[in-house]
Amino acid sequence: MPGLQIISKASSRAADGLAAILAIGRANPPNSMDQSSYPEFYFRVMDSDHLVDLKKKFQRICERTAIRKRHFVWNEELLRDNPCLRTFMDSSLNVRQKVAVAEIPKLGAAAAERAIEEWGQPRSGITHLIFCTTSGMDLPGADYQLTKILGLNADVQRVMLYQQGCFAGGTVLRLAKVLAESRKGARVLVVCAETTTVLIRAPSVEHQDDLVTQALFADGASALIVGADPVEEVNERPLFSIISASQVILPDSDGAIGGHLGEGGLTATLHRDVPLIISKNVSKCLEDAFSPLGISDWNSIFWAPHPGGRAILDQVEERVGLKPEKMWASRHVLAEYGNMSSVCVHFVLDEMRKRSAKEGKPTTGEGLEWGVLFGFGPGLTVETVVLRSHPIN
Ligand code: CAA
Repeated sequence: MPGLQIISKASSRAADGLAAILAIGRANPPNSMDQSSYPEFYFRVMDSDHLVDLKKKFQRICERTAIRKRHFVWNEELLRDNPCLRTFMDSSLNVRQKVAVAEIPKLGAAAAERAIEEWGQPRSGITHLIFCTTSGMDLPGADYQLTKILGLNADVQRVMLYQQGCFAGGTVLRLAKVLAESRKGARVLVVCAETTTVLIRAPSVEHQDDLVTQALFADGASALIVGADPVEEVNERPLFSIISASQVILPDSDGAIGGHLGEGGLTATLHRDVPLIISKNVSKCLEDAFSPLGISDWNSIFWAPHPGGRAILDQVEERVGLKPEKMWASRHVLAEYGNMSSVCVHFVLDEMRKRSAKEGKPTTGEGLEWGVLFGFGPGLTVETVVLRSHPIN
């Protein structure tokens, strides 16, 4: 195949141009649940209907999330068959691991197949693989399983990122940029896959903070093909160029977001000040990232922040003085899919380029040239990725 000849063997010299996202694929498990009826379901299946006040509180939280539906790998049958998942903290790691280790590579593979299809090149041209998940560690890891499922080359250069949390949708772009630009012809398959199988548990009067976790998180997978110097002859088309990518730990944020894995599964710590801490620091991240480009009008760029929670988007929007429509793609992903951790920001980019095309906008970034992608997560850590859109043919 001509495409294979042109791009399959990465050379030892660096690429000429900057890395770009060449294709995006995504997948969600079939079990979809409406947020409006979720409190009824959750308290019933957890045999907790007697906790009347707690259920009302959970209803209040669910209503405030601005989430309409979420998808899950687990279903009612799995919860019924495994009573340990219907307690607050009983030993349940083995069950959770079994499901996550089996399902995460499959979910990632479904998204990857779609990305490869859009890319349109033989999969033997994939030189590197980055797999990222906060669900289910194993040896060999999900990267190995995915390589086998997809039939990638045995010498594909793999990187496995476990337990990064929600900022990792930006981390994988930072890493993919380095890999794609360091070898001419490199094509990096990036896959993020997440499941709440690791954190679903019964409500507890003593641990009411966990209700926010139960109301927010959801399952899904994203996949990207990243490469520099797109080959026009084989129809490779850049969607977004990755101009710069950086990570920072926010000041005075110790312990604001955490995740702790134990016999009872993964418990998330989400401090009430998370939206405040993020919104207070976002301007500095923007200034650091965009001053080399001479850009300081934050309404003149397109926005792809991680939709970690409605309050985060609200407070960032207010603090930065953004027009309401700037966050539409993140709000849409939050509403239709919930917080899928690392996966979300890639869904946001996918929504943006699709709507830009549908509405006849001249570029993939809503007709604008420059944009920002933010990952927010444990630490508190922020990933800031500067993107450049491309013309839509
Ligand atoms: N912890 C515990 N309880 C909380 C809470 C928190 N962080 N935030 C809100 N609540 C409680 C409130 O006390 C209130 O309880 P009562 O009704 O009993 O008074 C209830 O939730 C509803 O709160 P509000 O009426 O004030 O509603 P809100 O506008 O704050 O909306 C929310 C609630 C949707 C949870 C919103 O606060 C939100 O979006 N918060 C951000 C959530 C967050 O931290 N997301 C980051 C997730 S982490 C991530 O994405 C990265 C990762 O790596 C895991």
